[in-house]
Amino acid sequence: MELPTPKTLCFHLSLLILVASSSIIEASHSSSLSSSDAETISRFQHYLQINTSQPTPNYHQVADFLIFQAKSISLESQAIEFVQGKPFVLIQWLGTNPNLPSILLYSHTDVVPFEPEKWKYDPFSAHIDQNGNIYARGSQDMKCVGMQYLEAVRRLKASLFQPLRSIYLAFSPDEEIGGQDGAAKFVESEVFKSLNIGVVLDEGLASPEENYRIFYGERISRRIGITATGEPGHGSRLYDNSAAENLMKSLETIRRFRASQFDMIKAGLKKEGEVVSVNMVYSKAGTPSPTGFVMNVQPSKAEAGFDIRVPPTADIESLERRIADEWAPASRNMTFQFVRKGPVHDVFGNPLITKTNSSNPWWDLLKDAIQMAGGKLQQPEIFPASSDARFFRQLGLPVFGFSPMENTPILLHDHNEFLNQEVYLKGITMYESIIRAYASYVEFGGNKESKDEM
Ligand SMILES: *[C@@H]1O[C@H](CO)[C@@H](O)[C@H](O)[C@H]1NC(C)=O
Ligand SMILES: *[C@@H]1O[C@H](CO)[C@@H](O)[C@H](O)[C@H]1NC(C)=O
Ligand SMILES: *[C@@H]1O[C@H](CO)[C@@H](O)[C@H](O)[C@H]1NC(C)=O
Ligand SMILES: [Zn+2]
Repeated sequence: MELPTPKTLCFHLSLLILVASSSIIEASHSSSLSSSDAETISRFQHYLQINTSQPTPNYHQVADFLIFQAKSISLESQAIEFVQGKPFVLIQWLGTNPNLPSILLYSHTDVVPFEPEKWKYDPFSAHIDQNGNIYARGSQDMKCVGMQYLEAVRRLKASLFQPLRSIYLAFSPDEEIGGQDGAAKFVESEVFKSLNIGVVLDEGLASPEENYRIFYGERISRRIGITATGEPGHGSRLYDNSAAENLMKSLETIRRFRASQFDMIKAGLKKEGEVVSVNMVYSKAGTPSPTGFVMNVQPSKAEAGFDIRVPPTADIESLERRIADEWAPASRNMTFQFVRKGPVHDVFGNPLITKTNSSNPWWDLLKDAIQMAGGKLQQPEIFPASSDARFFRQLGLPVFGFSPMENTPILLHDHNEFLNQEVYLKGITMYESIIRAYASYVEFGGNKESKDEM
């Protein structure tokens, strides 16, 4: 890293003052923590206190903070502006055999907006309550994970661990708004190619139970708009095939389909990520008048739009046929626009899932490493929403979505998002174990001596 400019120097100074002042506040809440744990929590608080709320995250402050953290553990780092003004921070720990595929520990720094009046505490105060719960936007999604990677690396370095494979920590600026200026640019870059990545860790979700959740794929997002057209008519007349009537028929069919999917979740037969979700996001019809709508005219056009999420293993073509045959049939004078967002297969033509069986050594290593650190995993799941993981899976890379938060309510994007400090600290030990296992892994065919060491 370059010499600090006066600006970053000034930032570092103010950071020191912050460290000092908040450790004092800290002491009253966390008397049970050792002084090194208290410092760890305090670093997490500082990351949380940087306002990285979309649409105007404090990009440079957060990049300076991360680079400062990297420097404090003697790691090289760089802030790459794939898009001007949106630094993407990459931190590297070179392995002793840089020819082996490397490990990417991925996270995003941005957080979603919040409604201040709905929060018990300021969402950027990182306030710790009596129970050790740290309240902040990003405490679950996903500043926790980004900082846990750094803390795990800090401990491994302190223990003089030498990685065989190189380890990269990536902090992306824009996951919450679609990842186009972050992950999408990163995977297309020369920098990315030069890293020779073999496996990626990205975000998961909190688990209200004692076992962690882990994700091996995510649903594919599709959007449709359907439009019915028909003869307009007086509001009093009963006649066949009006636009509104034809749209209502579709809504009934779609609603039944939605219920059939939801029933499988309610009955415990499927998890959220394993069914097709369909939700109406707009409906549009009517003849406007100065006071609202003309109430005695049946419109000639009626439209509705839907957000659809499809499991990566589902048959998308059969869904498309269902839409054409039942949801927007031409026989009812209906048309539809199907918006495909992103591919269904990776570059090798395989479904966008990461294998979670013995055919994938990264899975076995991960599972064993978590177990060895005292963690328990639930059955692997499909992530119900979207994350940046898709950009890496599209390249055929194995990606696991994992945020080590057990016994924690799912509060991402919600009011009063928090994470307990003990849960956070335990998560660091998970990553210590995982990084140790991943960075030491010698593929079969490697020399025998190092294999025996494993
Ligand atoms: C954080 O940033 C958002 C978006 O720029 C802004 O609306 C909000 O007031 C900021 N909050 C604080 C506490 O600074
Ligand atoms: C389709 O639209 C045409 C023209 O408005 C109309 O004559 C016909 O009855 C409609 N058919 C159906 C099935 O709605
Ligand atoms: C592992 O899982 C994949 C994908 O589910 C499957 O195709 C493959 O046959 C499995 N391999 C083994 C060894 O179980
Ligand atoms: Zn996230």
